[in-house]
Amino acid sequence: MQHPDVSLTGSLSVGKMASSNSARYRLARSGEKSRRHSSAEGLPVSEAQEFRHAPVMEREVVETFAGVPAGHIVDATLGGAGHSVALLEGRNDVSIIGVDRDEVALVAARDRLARFGARATTRHATFGELNSVLAGVLPAVGASQVSGALFDLGVSSPQLDVAERGFSYRVEAPLDMRMDRSQALTAAQVVNTYERDDLARILRDHADERFARRIADAIVAARPIATTSQLTATVTAAIPAATRRRGGHPAKRTFQALRIEVNAELDQLPHALEAAIDATCANGRVAVISYHSGEDRIVKDVLRRAETGGCTCRPGLPCACGATPRVRRVRAPRHPSHLEIESNPRARSARFRVVEKLPVDIDPEGGCEWLQ
Ligand SMILES: C[S@@+](CC[C@H](N)C(=O)[O-])C[C@H]1O[C@@H](n2cnc3c(N)ncnc32)[C@H](O)[C@@H]1O
Repeated sequence: MQHPDVSLTGSLSVGKMASSNSARYRLARSGEKSRRHSSAEGLPVSEAQEFRHAPVMEREVVETFAGVPAGHIVDATLGGAGHSVALLEGRNDVSIIGVDRDEVALVAARDRLARFGARATTRHATFGELNSVLAGVLPAVGASQVSGALFDLGVSSPQLDVAERGFSYRVEAPLDMRMDRSQALTAAQVVNTYERDDLARILRDHADERFARRIADAIVAARPIATTSQLTATVTAAIPAATRRRGGHPAKRTFQALRIEVNAELDQLPHALEAAIDATCANGRVAVISYHSGEDRIVKDVLRRAETGGCTCRPGLPCACGATPRVRRVRAPRHPSHLEIESNPRARSARFRVVEKLPVDIDPEGGCEWLQ
């Protein structure tokens, strides 16, 4: 394997200049501009510098990609680049294409990735746009496929911890919850404008909330609701006293459901996973860490479909429908160790699934080889 001496520096906000006569320069010129210190939203740099997120199941992630062919790994949920840094440190023959919809995360990630220079590129995008991100990046580096993709779903710790982002029921803030602060829909709009039935539906579908109807009724009665603490009080009062004393915080599921709705988190996932599987070369891997049942159901379904090739034959009988499996499951889903959960309770609900691409439908012109 050749060493991946390709420069994606242009998409990094810090670091070296790209050489002017190469594809990398074109990428730099056409790629997104640095958003450091000057984002459209005028993000305080200190916010990014404070970005602290412990990567979940980091050792398992590094092990998962240890044997994939040299090339590019897509980190579809770059966050603070914890996983990406570990992957880059683990192998010097892989590069990272990092995607995140959150500008604050990207600023922090770019700072952390700067020391890897040409081996990291970042894009402000949703993973729903993975196809177009890859269509822009891969040709510029002479590759047609990636060696793998990682999805570490959900929110980062800073998104929860920075009060004014409005993700947390623990701190007073306007009801916002947008991962991408340039989007229009906020949690306040969902809470104050959705029909009662739609509120109940999202509480059930996105968070398995048993008291969805009662909470939806209470929200409608309490409108307008402007802040996290108003919403927390409304939800808490709607839940029977006996239940309130058991389990987690009574508003936890409501906040989760609203966050998923505001960011359309589940809508993009099937398509993004399909795109990642399509883009991955033979023996490359797609790995997903999910944090709640709604997410995991989608991940399981998409990976299962890829595993069976969409076979419709009766289970246990030989396939007669001509389906072609595209991936194999690498192992049963895994959870973080007790030790990890102790040191990082937010890892508690994580479930890690991995598939490996089979060498059936690879592009003979592509593969994971570095072409330049
Ligand atoms: C759990 S954090 C990832 C943390 C990262 N693995 C690390 O080690 O720092 C999830 C990240 O995914 C981003 N995200 C969530 N949904 C996304 C989507 N649809 N497209 C792009 N990024 C998304 C969030 O903004 C957040 O930064």
